[in-house]
Amino acid sequence: MEPIDIIKKFYQPGTKSYATLVHHSEQVTQKALTVAAKVPHLEPDLDFIAEAAMLHDIGIHATVAESLGCHGRHPYLLHGTLGRKMLDGLDLPRHALVCERHVGIGISAADIVTHNLPLPIRDMRPVSIEEQIIGSADKFFSKNGNGNGREKTVGEILAEIESYGSDKVIRFKSWLELFAA
Ligand SMILES: [Fe+2]
Repeated sequence: MEPIDIIKKFYQPGTKSYATLVHHSEQVTQKALTVAAKVPHLEPDLDFIAEAAMLHDIGIHATVAESLGCHGRHPYLLHGTLGRKMLDGLDLPRHALVCERHVGIGISAADIVTHNLPLPIRDMRPVSIEEQIIGSADKFFSKNGNGNGREKTVGEILAEIESYGSDKVIRFKSWLELFAA
């Protein structure tokens, strides 16, 4: 499977949304593969990571994110569940779960209820090692062009996710430990 061919089913090459998505996804894929190479004892599926990391944000075009060239009608928060639907529709359920589970740093059913989020109430936290690697790698790169696409520092990421709740900070720190091997 060539992820770029799947992206082209939904995004027109030459558009801002295509360029933004492909650039960000390539950065996340490289980072995820670098992390995966450090943890052979966890037996990450490298081929799957290369595909799923390229596709993790495929749902953005259906959201309202003008700065990314996305002119959909859904809140940006829904890009994970929208991406899941798109990939489920292509019979890629394992890749689809990566879409759903990478948002934020993984959203729990309790988060959805407590914060009254416009999401179906189910656990959306990363489970498999591949989901955790991609979810972690994604945090190192923004899509909005700030910082010229450079990799964020761990300190910058921690400052950002502090507002998501202390459990998210703990989860990210546990990933740093797990992937520092
Ligand atoms: Fe992303």
